[in-house]
Amino acid sequence: MGAQQDVASILLVTSEANPFAKTGGLADVAGALGPPLRRHGSDVAVVMPRYRQIDLSRLTPVIPHLPVALTDTRSYATSVYSAADQGVTYYFVDCPQLYDREDLYTHEGKDYEDNYLRFGVFSLAAIELARHLGTPRVLHCHDWQTALVPVYLKTRFARTPALAKVKTLLSIHNLGYQGLFDRRVLRELGLGDAMFNSEQLEFYGKVNLLKGGLIYADRLNTVSPTYSREIQSPELGFGLDGLLRKRSHVLSGILNGVDYSQWDPRHDPHIAANYSAEDLSGKLACKQALLREFGLADSCLTKPLIGIVSRFDSQKGFDLIEEVAGDLTAIDGALVALGTGNPRYEAFFRNWAAAHPDKIGVRVGFDNSLAHRIEAGSDIFLMPSRYEPCGLNQMYSLRYGTVPVVRATGGLDDAVDESKGFKFRESTGQAMLSAVLQAVNLFCRDPERWRTMMRRGMEQDFSWDQAAAQYASVYCELLHPDPTA
Ligand code: ADP
Ligand code: GLC
Repeated sequence: MGAQQDVASILLVTSEANPFAKTGGLADVAGALGPPLRRHGSDVAVVMPRYRQIDLSRLTPVIPHLPVALTDTRSYATSVYSAADQGVTYYFVDCPQLYDREDLYTHEGKDYEDNYLRFGVFSLAAIELARHLGTPRVLHCHDWQTALVPVYLKTRFARTPALAKVKTLLSIHNLGYQGLFDRRVLRELGLGDAMFNSEQLEFYGKVNLLKGGLIYADRLNTVSPTYSREIQSPELGFGLDGLLRKRSHVLSGILNGVDYSQWDPRHDPHIAANYSAEDLSGKLACKQALLREFGLADSCLTKPLIGIVSRFDSQKGFDLIEEVAGDLTAIDGALVALGTGNPRYEAFFRNWAAAHPDKIGVRVGFDNSLAHRIEAGSDIFLMPSRYEPCGLNQMYSLRYGTVPVVRATGGLDDAVDESKGFKFRESTGQAMLSAVLQAVNLFCRDPERWRTMMRRGMEQDFSWDQAAAQYASVYCELLHPDPTA
């Protein structure tokens, strides 16, 4: 069998993917990787849970009954549906008692208590699907939700001939989320209490599902080169840095790409006017529309407008904004923010806007279309993350001519260079403020240099083809290991 044919069957196992279900960047990645991988000669399919928001009537039933045995005495009846998007087949594991819920992982700020079951069953269902299809040679898993795939494969299915040669790659999109549960879940997941030891799934008295994946997966990667180094340090290793250092020979960093079919001001249907590096005139129309949408004064049109789109999570560094909110308000400009998450930050942003309704605009919620309009209408995009595995919005911002101001961490550091944006290193309000002020000053004092900076960013290419080529070579190495290595 030729290498091309071997590489040809990859199953992406993910808890979310665009355009079907999204809470963050993982969905963008899982939804965008398929088409360029196909161009690199791989035959890719995706499997994910069938959540409530994914309308069953639009899906095709493919496996009416796929039983998933969690333990000797406990099974789940699942069925599998499919749909196609951009030439990629998506499989949906349907199990209403587990996935037919209002949200994906949390409800009203609290994790669903049975998340270990929901994603344990999903991981097993993905393996059963691979067995049923007979073709996948690599199961490419993402984050803690699918980290049990390699664990089950290497333990329960180790001697199952149909699965013995299946390889696994686990992508770490965020080490801050590890899937931590009580010890008792090991038995419920059919893994056995014997795995509760520090060489396996035990982690400071808890069961850590991600740790299991990090130990058992054949290869690991994370979503930027810098983050792949940072997670091997105690500062950003979240207690797993020792293990990651031990496995560094199988760990790589692959910078995410941008799906320019979705994120490009030349043809973005969500924005007031299209524009390009050659003709920037539409950007002003986008800014005017955005100011109006947020009820901000028209007089802000000539002043710098700062945009923020984010999960409101401590990872994203909003405490730095809180710290210097007074100084930011004092800038002769405006700020718009869209986000949802931690009630503390939701309240902070709401109160900030209520106190300065003419220059601070805030929307609490998840609104993809508005996210596009903020990218297009803002002049500056602010991402003060404490850590950032990759981050997508800085790359979207570059394409939209919205100059990013970022903390130099993870993928923010890799994607933004100082000819196209502003970076600060110290995780302090003052360091962030000084970078914002530098951007504001350049915007106000030297429009020509500002436009040059915008154009440089707009011309940069982060298309998925580059990342897909790197993933394809990891798959290839998995299937054809170097006998001398
Ligand atoms: P993360 O995955 O850590 O949230 P990323 O920068 O990788 O960060 O990806 C975030 C994605 O989610 C981007 O596509 C961004 O536009 C989108 N997003 C985040 N918050 C919102 C929101 N409140 N409304 C709409 N889109 C959002
Ligand atoms: C995670 C990270 C983010 C990354 C995304 C997609 O949610 O927080 O930095 O861009 O995954 O890989």
